Amino acid sequence: MFENLVAAPADPILGLAEIFNADERINKINLSVGIYKDEHMLTPVLACVKKAEAQLLENEQTKSYLPIEGLVTFNTLTQKLILGEDNQLIISGRVKTAQAPGGTGALRIMADFLVKRTKIKRIWVSSPTWPNHQSIFQTAGLEVRDYRYYNAQTHELDFDSLIEDLNHVSAGEAVLFHGCCHNPTGIDPTPEQWQIISDLALKKGWLPVFDLAYQGFGQGLDEDALGVRLFAKNQPELLIASSYSKNFGLYNERVGALTLIAENEDIAECAFSQVRTIIRANYSNPPSHGANVVVNILSNPEMKDEWIDELTTMRQRIHRMRQLFVKTLQEKGAKQDFSFITKQNGMFSFSGLTEEQVFALRNDYGIYIVNSGRLNVAGMTLDNMSLLCESIVKVLS
Ligand code: LMR
Repeated sequence: MFENLVAAPADPILGLAEIFNADERINKINLSVGIYKDEHMLTPVLACVKKAEAQLLENEQTKSYLPIEGLVTFNTLTQKLILGEDNQLIISGRVKTAQAPGGTGALRIMADFLVKRTKIKRIWVSSPTWPNHQSIFQTAGLEVRDYRYYNAQTHELDFDSLIEDLNHVSAGEAVLFHGCCHNPTGIDPTPEQWQIISDLALKKGWLPVFDLAYQGFGQGLDEDALGVRLFAKNQPELLIASSYSKNFGLYNERVGALTLIAENEDIAECAFSQVRTIIRANYSNPPSHGANVVVNILSNPEMKDEWIDELTTMRQRIHRMRQLFVKTLQEKGAKQDFSFITKQNGMFSFSGLTEEQVFALRNDYGIYIVNSGRLNVAGMTLDNMSLLCESIVKVLS
């Protein structure tokens, strides 16, 4: 049965981590996978998470199954974090949330729900996008098409082309947007642009769906949810896959959520019952530890403040590294203007490096970035910046 299988290619992002770990060079630098690193190149457990875990250890009474849609409090807190504390939609009952195993798990439930429970057959994703989007949607059985997003010459959002392409999307198809900190470009639509896209969705009758994996890493928790909130206000229907991997540093606990908004409470209830059947047939019900950690933090004002402080520290360090990166590249003699990097949001910088330059950095200098030229700014430190920029300048010339 298995002897005719051909080996699958390594994952374009996670596969690099394996090669990096096997690299014996002392000065190697990993700027590939989107994981936050502090100034010492570590990804420590957040202090608020440690506290919440200690409370859990003390107070947890059972390891019995969670409901199919996960912890009710977790789901409510997730809605408030995404849509805002007093959002009318939540009060109206139009919003339903299911806890999911990470943002990826949420995207897969979303995809299965679209394929198996609606008439949607095709989804449009930005070009470029996180490579796993294609894999998740295709594996679920959706046809995946691209809409233009990025202007490689100006390093800006190619808004005219985006609108032109979305004008060709038919009613009854889905379009995926990154809620904030677009992965890999770091370039997000402005509020005015979000409004135009949302109006177009209404006019054309396609379903907008969101991937919100970096809330808090761009400008702030509320600022980063602006696009999603605007769509939630205007659209009759919306799906949002969100993740706590990055903003709570809960990467390996796999904590995310799928949020569904429908035209009214009855439709929401009914559609959500179908989401439950998708989950039940997939992994039955989600794990509890990470979601309980999030609940403990978000439902305790003091711990929530502590979390927001820690998140702000992460975001600000990334901002500082962006500035320093551009400055150091210039000091080391880069002839190109890299100032566009300071305008990008989130963990990633879409550097404009070619695949050939990416390979040269990897082979000659032990610097690992994704083949698309995406580099994780959170992997930069005061200690590795000089070597990093020197090496980049060498491969550029
Ligand atoms: C990334 O884009 O690096 C992260 O979202 C991690 C992943 O799963 O690819």
